[in-house]
Amino acid sequence: MCGIVGAIAQRNITPILLEGLRRLEYRGYDSAGVAVIAAGKGIQRVRAAGKVIELENSLDALPANGHLGIAHTRWATHGKPAEHNAHPHVSHGLAVVHNGIIENHAPLRKRLKDLGYVFTSETDTEVVAHLLAHHYAENNELLAALRATLAEIHGAYALAVIHEDQPETLYCSRMGSPLVVGEGSEERYIASDPLALLQVTDCFRYLEEGDYARLTMNTCEIWDRNHQVVDRPIKRYEHSAHSLDKGEYRHFMLKEIFEQPLAISETLASTLGNDHVLTALLGPDAETRLADVANIHIVACGTSYHAGLVARYWIEAQAGIPCQVEVASEYRYRTVVVPANTLLITISQSGETADTLAALRYSKNQGYLSSLAICNVAGSSLVREADWRLLTHAGPEIGVASTKAFTTQLVALLWLTTALVQVRNGITEQVTNNVRALRSLPDVIAQALTLEPRITLLAERFANKHHALFLGRGTHYPIAMEGALKLKEISYIHAEAYAAGELKHGPLALVDEDMPVVSVAPSDSLLEKLKSNLEEVRARGGQLITFACETIEQTDDANHETIGLPWVEECISPILYTIPLQLLSYHVALVKGTDVDKPRNLAKSVTVE
Ligand code: G6P
Repeated sequence: MCGIVGAIAQRNITPILLEGLRRLEYRGYDSAGVAVIAAGKGIQRVRAAGKVIELENSLDALPANGHLGIAHTRWATHGKPAEHNAHPHVSHGLAVVHNGIIENHAPLRKRLKDLGYVFTSETDTEVVAHLLAHHYAENNELLAALRATLAEIHGAYALAVIHEDQPETLYCSRMGSPLVVGEGSEERYIASDPLALLQVTDCFRYLEEGDYARLTMNTCEIWDRNHQVVDRPIKRYEHSAHSLDKGEYRHFMLKEIFEQPLAISETLASTLGNDHVLTALLGPDAETRLADVANIHIVACGTSYHAGLVARYWIEAQAGIPCQVEVASEYRYRTVVVPANTLLITISQSGETADTLAALRYSKNQGYLSSLAICNVAGSSLVREADWRLLTHAGPEIGVASTKAFTTQLVALLWLTTALVQVRNGITEQVTNNVRALRSLPDVIAQALTLEPRITLLAERFANKHHALFLGRGTHYPIAMEGALKLKEISYIHAEAYAAGELKHGPLALVDEDMPVVSVAPSDSLLEKLKSNLEEVRARGGQLITFACETIEQTDDANHETIGLPWVEECISPILYTIPLQLLSYHVALVKGTDVDKPRNLAKSVTVE
């Protein structure tokens, strides 16, 4: 979604804002803008449609320097991506940037128009700018104007405000969208994500829902939603072994695919004993709390939802606990039946996805035993609001298409399944098997990554294709879904996934020589059944690409190519088989020439509904 950066310092803050925007560009990137104030000068605003580089070009032509400023990278929700809709929005000497959605923007817009305010954009944000100006005109007090404005707007927002009457003060607020305050030496910053500010600080205050703040170079005052002064403690950002640039890689996505052995090792660090899992990771009373779980509901979006679908197979088969999985955007708006002792699990890379967060909040009054967030960002809203947390340590994921976050989520979910088995049945063969398999993952994934040259060649076959089918069975059906999603996201080829047994109930009608069919066929208990499904494709001239265990007999011909993967325990096979599908979609996207890390219309972190 949109990204916000702001700064106040003695030096010129424009370079800090621009670097922050570059680092936030993964959240949204259809336009960008800055507004800065230098002593004695009014607001200087520069905006540009397109990526941050376009804004940099505009700033080269029309420099804007100052000691106080706010900046924004936008992912359009209200009004098309165009310069006039780009933030900051201004009104009577003030400038505003906003991430989120103001739901009651239409009546507010009408009222403000009636009062004589002139709108120059179609955005909901401009309403906030004029409303602030309107309240400021009442008593010339910006904090009071901010309070009055916040009382009138409904929806989700992170806001930052500057006013030329106060060239030394930065105002901000959050409700439903993330915002942190960065602490420097006689400098203060704000951002939607600490990542945006790591070049200047690693000390952050995490604003809570409804908080608003007034920042100067030397002071930081924060009020909560009840207008009480509060202290949000400074926390040091934990740097990981993952660097924030592309290094030798052409794209973040490729770098992140290759980081998976490291990401998995870090996620597993200190979680495994010799032959069992260390349940204390979840807290001192974890054993009793896990033993009480009689049902599980998993809620997530996108790729994280696919991780939940795999986990359902594990949890029901291994722990014998009924488990259902649902996309958050559906879950949050329906009546759910919550059986006694049900654990709610939310899964999210960012921990800021609006639907997932809303689902967690909705669950609070539904009678759940407790909630557990599986998340990659320790300081995120989801983690802070859940009863329990299980962190993945994938490191920052910048590519919009999720890769290492997904496989580390699967690792966390298999670990959790094992913990559930262990607290019920003790250290069984199943438990030791899972532990051994989890330990072997970094190595087998490193082996799978060596398939890249072969997959590069395969990708060329997709150059002129418009559709593709992905097939899998059991735990590999959600992996086929994830493979199809990756291909759609970054190569714009329409791809659908089917449980292979469903092929004959419709999609087989689509199969001809123009339809590549990708199947995930590990040597598990369903292999023989899957083979019959694949014969149905071959018989119809379909172009079949099969990812299978290297030990099975291969029967390739002109229409069928098999790529062999190392043999692994069945429980970790869905994690392993994800890798070649990620590489395939990446290389198809290269062949198609798309913008791999920033695919059109998509955002990394969807913080609006
Ligand atoms: C967006 C991203 C996806 C991601 C989904 C859920 O759509 O483009 O890659 O899977 O959000 O994000 P989360 O951060 O909650 O896992």
